[in-house]
Amino acid sequence: MECYTNNKKIVIAIDGFSSCGKSTFAKAIAARLGYIFIDTGAMYRSVTLYALEHGAIRSGIVNEDEIIRLLDNISISFRFNPMRGASDIYVNGDIVEGKIRTIEVSNFVSAVSSIRQVREKLVAIQKQMGASRGVVMDGRDIGTVVFPDAELKIYMTADAKVRAQRRYDELKAKGDDVSFDEILENVISRDHQDMNRTISPLRQAEDAIVLDNSYMTIEQQMEWFDREFLRVQNSLQ
Ligand code: DC
Repeated sequence: MECYTNNKKIVIAIDGFSSCGKSTFAKAIAARLGYIFIDTGAMYRSVTLYALEHGAIRSGIVNEDEIIRLLDNISISFRFNPMRGASDIYVNGDIVEGKIRTIEVSNFVSAVSSIRQVREKLVAIQKQMGASRGVVMDGRDIGTVVFPDAELKIYMTADAKVRAQRRYDELKAKGDDVSFDEILENVISRDHQDMNRTISPLRQAEDAIVLDNSYMTIEQQMEWFDREFLRVQNSLQ
């Protein structure tokens, strides 16, 4: 895309509710700009998966001390997968991309991501990954905590029922046996937990612009993005 050459590399922070298409949008932006896309939700999900697999979450009980103790054994990395046009996430060298989006992980990830030590470890890795700029990072606290100096901050939202339907379709397509009501309940409960936790709650940064994509196609979202990106680039000239 010609209009994107010679532009200053910036950080694009995308925060918002679960299942509102942040990753799809962020991935499309990164591909268009030749930026690195980092899905920080995948990092919290990977720690949750590790906790489940190593007995730190048992019978529905999250053992915080045990998770904190396990943190030193967890090494998270991303590797670009040309087939997907995005990076896959690895824990201790093993790919976990296919295992982190189950309803079981979704049910515990908010609790795990509210542990201070978990956030400190993951935020430090995220800051390092974006240090040379040229990244699109999506999450809950990117514009407020990880990159408060991001040049472009987007706060994404969509109607809860629309979001639940999207996640339901995704899981059904993978063959998962889930009910719509179960998914809707999970979406609403995660919204509540994400906005009300003590450390780094989900909130709109003062300088973030809102994108409500309830009834927008990805093409319409990209048109919206093009305008905002050019506005930011012009302001940096
Ligand atoms: O984006 P997602 O639904 O895959 O994120 C999974 C969970 O991780 C979500 O419930 C909140 C948490 N999260 C977070 O606390 N901070 C981030 N930067 C990203 C995700």
